[in-house]
Amino acid sequence: MNKPLVMDSLKLLQVPQGEFELVRKPRNELLQAWDAADEFLLNYVDEIKVLSRHGKLLILNDAFGALAVALANHPVYSWNDSFTAQLALRENLLANGYPAEQVKTNSGIDFPTVTVDCVLIKIPKMLALLEHQLYVLRQVLDHDTHIIAAGMARNIHRSTLELFENILGPTTTTRARKKSRLILVQRDQSLKEGQSHYPDSYELQVDRNYRIINHASLFSRDRLDRGSQLLLEHMPVAERYRRIVDLGCGNGVLGIIATALNPKASLLFCDESYMAVASAEENFRAAFAQTREAEFRVADGLQGLAADSRDLVLVNPPFHQQHNVGDAIAWQMFKQARTVLVAGGELRIVGNRHLAYHSKLKKLFGNCETVAADSKFVVLSSIKHS
Ligand SMILES: C[S@@+](CC[C@H](N)C(=O)[O-])C[C@H]1O[C@@H](n2cnc3c(N)ncnc32)[C@H](O)[C@@H]1O
Repeated sequence: MNKPLVMDSLKLLQVPQGEFELVRKPRNELLQAWDAADEFLLNYVDEIKVLSRHGKLLILNDAFGALAVALANHPVYSWNDSFTAQLALRENLLANGYPAEQVKTNSGIDFPTVTVDCVLIKIPKMLALLEHQLYVLRQVLDHDTHIIAAGMARNIHRSTLELFENILGPTTTTRARKKSRLILVQRDQSLKEGQSHYPDSYELQVDRNYRIINHASLFSRDRLDRGSQLLLEHMPVAERYRRIVDLGCGNGVLGIIATALNPKASLLFCDESYMAVASAEENFRAAFAQTREAEFRVADGLQGLAADSRDLVLVNPPFHQQHNVGDAIAWQMFKQARTVLVAGGELRIVGNRHLAYHSKLKKLFGNCETVAADSKFVVLSSIKHS
């Protein structure tokens, strides 16, 4: 059967390095797994012949593996804080005839300690993550390493360029092509020393005082998010909540307060960000040392967790994936939560009012109660009946 043309053009990246079939994670047949900045970067790398056959390459923040797959016939190292990005990379390598291990990957916390000839950087949504990465990079880059960053022009600001200039050295930008831009950077070894400000921290006062540390890629790094605050004020407390999940845990605030208020509970903290799970683990240990039980899991949501195994799932769902806004991940999280909950178990979430999670939950669980609301957020609860 012929596939519709529009689907093919959404899946097939055509660049000088070849044609590559690419998908996103989570799957989304209506969105491409690359953007114009990836295309611009791959064309530029080919035009200026920056890579010799054996030239080593480090790629940062490659959303679904488009850059690494297109350049996979070189020794490539991919540094990414996102587990789902790494999953997409492996799947896309396999789909394009490479073994899944063709590209070596490092998590957000572990930096690849190789010497490379060229560094390609996709501008991440969090400027703090970029800042942290540039500070780490400056320790390992030589004067003659090619450093090329790329992003959509709307995401490249004066402050973005200043980061490159202040941390690495002289920085110029190209003209825009298809609304994307490249940033070309020269490493200046004489720049004065400096170091990453991350992890940073804030104080949280609930039943007692907590110091909450946050690695660079984290959501709401300098203060508690207002939505999370509303959920903390309406945290479920009951004897029957013995196995609690903090899904999309970020720095772990929801799970930590659930632990404090439910003295017999054990916790599972999950996030697809390595830096998030590392922050949650540090914060949990600082709050409870070894007195309470918890597991920490970097994964795509609750994938792989046994069905009917948890009593309560807490979520403040993400409403964007890098620069794209959408509710696909929230929807995936709600469906996974329903699967892992026992009969009688509860999903409690907080979300922006305008996202209309109420109707989604009603459809999925057959019930949804509004527990609390303010001008911007709602706390919703759904019970799994069977
Ligand atoms: C709005 S933040 C909430 C963080 C924290 N729970 C809080 O309330 O401050 C959403 C979190 O979901 C995580 N996330 C996004 N996609 C995910 C996925 N596919 N699986 C697990 N976590 C994910 C993000 O990394 C982020 O930490």
